[in-house]
Amino acid sequence: MYSVAIDGPSGAGKSTIARAAAKALGFIYVDTGALYRAIGYYIVKQGINTKDEQAVSQQLINIDISLKYDNKGKQQVILNNIDVSEYIRTPEISMAASNVSAIPKVREFLLDLQRNIAKNNNVIMDGRDIATVILPNADVKIFLTASAEKRAHRRYLELLEKGENVTEQEVLEDVKKRDYQDSHREIAPLMPSGTSIIVDTSELTLDESINTIIKIVKEHLK
Ligand code: DC
Repeated sequence: MYSVAIDGPSGAGKSTIARAAAKALGFIYVDTGALYRAIGYYIVKQGINTKDEQAVSQQLINIDISLKYDNKGKQQVILNNIDVSEYIRTPEISMAASNVSAIPKVREFLLDLQRNIAKNNNVIMDGRDIATVILPNADVKIFLTASAEKRAHRRYLELLEKGENVTEQEVLEDVKKRDYQDSHREIAPLMPSGTSIIVDTSELTLDESINTIIKIVKEHLK
């Protein structure tokens, strides 16, 4: 099995780029952020503070998460038998996901699920700690990034399209706050592994970014 780890901050275009590259290569695309989002969603629904380490950890026993793929290869996140994929993309759940992802028990809870998918499939796995923690032996490791301003602008356009009522300034503040939180947490902080190839998409179009990734993967898999 081949595995490609793609890590990087939110809004670097990871999911769109990784999904398209996976399709072109015939790999399964695994969006690991959706797992943290599903937990964040559950905790918010329970009315529990997503930063309360003890309360969140205690809830894990009530949570069952799995990933499914439809016949087009689209990932669905199943939380306690319900497909929550459509409910986990709001700014509120983004922050909740970032909060719960800093909790060690949450990361431990999701570890085997992620490793098992890579054990059984050729994958492009997108996240924050795929190269550093989840798949340290990945065949290819990429750190995909872009400036905070570019990433906020892209996310703002996405949210506008979905009809979310936000300003670009708010999105930029969220991006910076999440960047800080994700890269300064004690456990599995966001950072490139020593052997990651760094790809900055600030000045690349989407197609250029996708082609860059496909080229890197093909070169490594030769
Ligand atoms: O990729 P995303 O924006 O959907 O991720 C949501 C949050 O989950 C993000 O703020 C950090 C966390 N996350 C993580 O800690 N580790 C991962 N492998 C993926 C996401």
